[in-house]
Amino acid sequence: MEKIVFATNNAHKLQELRQMLGDRYEILGLADIGCHEDIPETADQIEGNARMKAEYVKQHYGYDCFSDDTGLEIDALDGEPGVYSARYASPGHDSEANIDKVLSKLEGLAHDGRTARFRTAIVLLQGNEEHLFEGQVEGIILTERHGTGGFGYDSIFQPVEGDGRTFAQMSPQDKNSISHRGRAVAKLVEFLNSQQ
Ligand code: IMP
Repeated sequence: MEKIVFATNNAHKLQELRQMLGDRYEILGLADIGCHEDIPETADQIEGNARMKAEYVKQHYGYDCFSDDTGLEIDALDGEPGVYSARYASPGHDSEANIDKVLSKLEGLAHDGRTARFRTAIVLLQGNEEHLFEGQVEGIILTERHGTGGFGYDSIFQPVEGDGRTFAQMSPQDKNSISHRGRAVAKLVEFLNSQQ
């Protein structure tokens, strides 16, 4: 079976991709190839970060590879936190502090001024070719947290095409069916499954 690396240490993401591609590809995580170093993510766009991670694996380990990167883009903040979503409030990945920072920056803004989107870029390096897959979902940043599921900014993000629930109030299945990552992953899976 063809081996392909997903440049992540996130067990949940790996399991999801294995379920979708497992009969065609052996999906390896970073730990599976003995990659324990911190891969640089210093680009100023999510596409650049996804490309950096995939290129690092390809160069140092020789495997075909794909990598994802996600950002929350808030229009009233000129696209912030964007590529800095994980470490918006501090270098540590503190989601609660990140949410507090967003809420305080948007304080006083009316509902229709609180538009935002999540965007995911997946870069696949296969042989000598590079492929980019993108997914996005439009939404509103609420004024306070709702729900306890999910992670990151889920509790303040209300997708426009939903039924009023935030991502943190949805089941993982409901969220995945409309989410940025779900959409980007679906495009990647369709592409890989269409190859012989
Ligand atoms: P990553 O590229 O998947 O690591 O995502 C970067 C950061 O974006 C995360 O640390 C979260 O803060 C945020 N993020 C990514 N995906 C989601 C999501 O589905 N819901 C909420 N926040 C997310």
